[in-house]
Amino acid sequence: MSKKIKINTEFEVFDYINDLQKEDKDLLLLAKKAMENAYAPYSNFFVGAALLMENGVIVTGNNQENAAYPSGLCAERVAIYHASSQHPDVKIKAIAVTARTDSKVLNTPVSPCGSCRQSMSEYEVKFKTPIKIIMMGQEGPVYISASISNLLPLTFTSESL
Ligand code: THU
Repeated sequence: MSKKIKINTEFEVFDYINDLQKEDKDLLLLAKKAMENAYAPYSNFFVGAALLMENGVIVTGNNQENAAYPSGLCAERVAIYHASSQHPDVKIKAIAVTARTDSKVLNTPVSPCGSCRQSMSEYEVKFKTPIKIIMMGQEGPVYISASISNLLPLTFTSESL
């Protein structure tokens, strides 16, 4: 005998960046600015992230690649590890992430990779506070998730240890 469980996940979709509330739009614009400093000579896939903390501090990051490919790091983790290293006790409220590439126009939201989801989840669990994820491509719609848990069902957390 077995049964099926369903895990619901939910995203809010905005057709245009201008439809966002000001705080979210401003964070996304800072992510776009950070994207311009991405170091991505190998993939030519440029990612920017901007993270808002509860005390109003904003930390940005971008992807940093390396000739030894696995040594690089995604924009989201550059930002979140920087935030945690500099402000270890401050809750993280939201992270905006965006990307562009030279080869095509990205018109669907960039979605954080599995390792970044796991890394972001760590701080959601640590602070017992959901982190809002705001995702956009180079143009087109914006997806907002109220929590990392929407992006990572059955999350492995410290509670399992
Ligand atoms: N990348 C990010 O920075 N964030 C993501 O969410 C997806 C992928 C980076 C890693 C690598 O430098 C390049 O994009 C191509 O995978």
